Amino acid sequence: MMNLQWNKNKHSFVQKLTSLLFVFIFVFGIISTNIPVRAATTSTDAEVTNTASFSTDVIYQIVTDRFFDGDTSNNPTGSIFDKSNLQKYHGGDWAGITQKLNDGYFTGMGVTALWISSPVENITTIDPSNNCASYHGYWAKDFFKTNTYFGSVSDFQTMINTAHAKGIKIVIDFAPNHTSTAEYGTMTFPEDGALYKNGTYLGGFKNDSLGLFNHESWTDFSTYESCVYHSMYGLADLNQQNSVVDSYMKEAIQKWLDLGVDGIRVDAVKHMSLGWQKNWLSSIYSYKPVFVFGEWFNGGVTADTQMTQFANTSGMSLLDFRFANAVRNALGSKSATMKDLSSVITATGSDYKEVNDQVTFIDNHDMSRFMTLSTNNGRAVENAYVLLLTSRGVPTIYYGSEQYATGTTDPYNRGDMPSFNTNSTAYKVISYLSPLRKTNPALAYGTTKERWLNDDVFIYERQFGNNVVVTAVNRNQSSSYSISGLYTNLPQGTYSDVMKGTLGGGSITVASSGAVNTFTLGAGQSAVWQYTASSSSTPIIGNVDPMMGVAGNTVTITGRGFGSSQGSVTFGTTTAKVVSWTDSQIKVYIPSVTAGEYAIKVTTSSGTSSSSYSGFEVLTGKQISVRFKVNNATTDYGSNVYIVGSVAELGNWNTSKAIGPFFNNTSTIGVYPTWFYDINVPAGTTIEYKFIKKDASGNVIWESGSNHKVVTPSDGTQVYSVDWQS
Ligand code: NOJ
Ligand code: NOJ
Repeated sequence: MMNLQWNKNKHSFVQKLTSLLFVFIFVFGIISTNIPVRAATTSTDAEVTNTASFSTDVIYQIVTDRFFDGDTSNNPTGSIFDKSNLQKYHGGDWAGITQKLNDGYFTGMGVTALWISSPVENITTIDPSNNCASYHGYWAKDFFKTNTYFGSVSDFQTMINTAHAKGIKIVIDFAPNHTSTAEYGTMTFPEDGALYKNGTYLGGFKNDSLGLFNHESWTDFSTYESCVYHSMYGLADLNQQNSVVDSYMKEAIQKWLDLGVDGIRVDAVKHMSLGWQKNWLSSIYSYKPVFVFGEWFNGGVTADTQMTQFANTSGMSLLDFRFANAVRNALGSKSATMKDLSSVITATGSDYKEVNDQVTFIDNHDMSRFMTLSTNNGRAVENAYVLLLTSRGVPTIYYGSEQYATGTTDPYNRGDMPSFNTNSTAYKVISYLSPLRKTNPALAYGTTKERWLNDDVFIYERQFGNNVVVTAVNRNQSSSYSISGLYTNLPQGTYSDVMKGTLGGGSITVASSGAVNTFTLGAGQSAVWQYTASSSSTPIIGNVDPMMGVAGNTVTITGRGFGSSQGSVTFGTTTAKVVSWTDSQIKVYIPSVTAGEYAIKVTTSSGTSSSSYSGFEVLTGKQISVRFKVNNATTDYGSNVYIVGSVAELGNWNTSKAIGPFFNNTSTIGVYPTWFYDINVPAGTTIEYKFIKKDASGNVIWESGSNHKVVTPSDGTQVYSVDWQS
């Protein structure tokens, strides 16, 4: 709507309306900036009401069924319930989580967010292909209803209200990629992967008259395209490009947001198109800005081009598998060194646009528990938590690992919560370090600098403004190291270990030069030293969340030094309207600017933030997901097809921002020389575009002829299919 580069002699009615609206917004903007805004002045970045950013939080991941049975009356009956079988329901529920919230188990540990299993109704029969029940929540049937074995809407609401009253956010797992298993040779699945909407049957995998599902074979995971359009392990793969599925998922998530959910963990994001997900996310951010992070499963520590691209352009954060694998290799299996871990931290720091927004962990329900990985070495688990809780990113504790639970692969890594012991050393380590994420912004927003390194010892410093946290970990449980020549930005003074020596750490003394006295880091020891500054006199931005949106959406800027009286926030050169303002958190509306990437700056009476946040993506307007297809586009080996066009979402005619490479190997959609790609574009907008071919070295061949031109619908999804103009 706000793309003002229209052609002067072709002023349409819509364009005149647009310009009138623009004048209106302009005048209104001037008036509104003169009206003193009564900002909610109390909320800080660390409060539970900050749903946009989780950087001050510690997440605790719960497999709901395996945590605590607070209400036996909702347990399933029949063969899907068997406490002695890890593939069946065990009875854990939301009432159980509520009880543990009231017992203080989470607050005692300093945990400030719970990520729970997908709450939606799942199949109630046994999956015959693996004799497994839906206890994990990944076999949805009706995204508008609760899984009654976890509880009712009112149980869910009670859990959320109880959590919020204790300063704890609730994140739900959500799996819009698929319903339940429906394909396995000639096997018959009693529920046929059927999808229901609030009790109404919409269709099944075999009985798919609405085209709700993709009907390709199982993915072999060999290409991104195969992951997106093929079934994962026989799960009925939803076709998000179907407009029924698209609007279903947009509405369903609103139901859960209305109940007060603060964050979403999106399952299997590598298995859905980026364009559809961005369109879905944009609808979420326009409805209620919450923190969203996706699961792009990755077994290694090295960069994966598509994963990095997704993290940096989709508008959602990712679970940081590279970090997890690096910690697991260095401290768990010891297949790598602390030097390798340090390199991964450096590499991810530059690969991710917003590394502090990625979600870190050391184990989860899809990998061996850290205790098992380290061959039952409790100190390795404790040291891994020290790294996790003081590194960049939002740390996640997997339920039970703080009680040294063991287990190899699924389902052995999903056992019942072994105990709720608040005296376990790991529990204590977490309880010392978690609160620091709220009080010392170096952990939430800081940079990372390696300060001392060998194969066994890693000492690093986090810094934000004058706030500093230094962490030292010696993974070698039989050798101590003399640490000499260590420098830090901690101010002159003596610092004692934040964990009060729980893992053997002592004090250090820092000279005015920053030199640290030589000290011994004992075998297997860890220590954390910190300095929390009084607030900065000039503004420093920590995070901006969400990382994208449309004009009018609320964006949260966190950091320090914003002052107690309202200053101003700019997107490029345009001032944004302020919603609320405190020293550590500002909320603004995205101004009506031309779509594109913007630098955000905060100005107060004492200055302007020096390092501005530069990558904020303003979208053109409400998004829809469109499948662009081009037929007969023959290419030389190594060349690929992309699209470029007249809106920011299609790169604004800049070929280096063209969208692609397109796919060309899905039998039910398109096979070479047909190419296709699902892309988020603005709704109700005239779009001109062309396809281009790029060779391996980036040389561009344009389609000839005039531009393709369409007016996108105001809702739903769409397919545009044309022949390559040679
Ligand atoms: C990834 C989840 O983490 C895993 O546990 C699940 O089985 C698959 N996605 C399918 O939903
Ligand atoms: C430049 C391309 O060469 C041309 O083919 C295309 O139509 C325009 N960009 C779009 O304005």
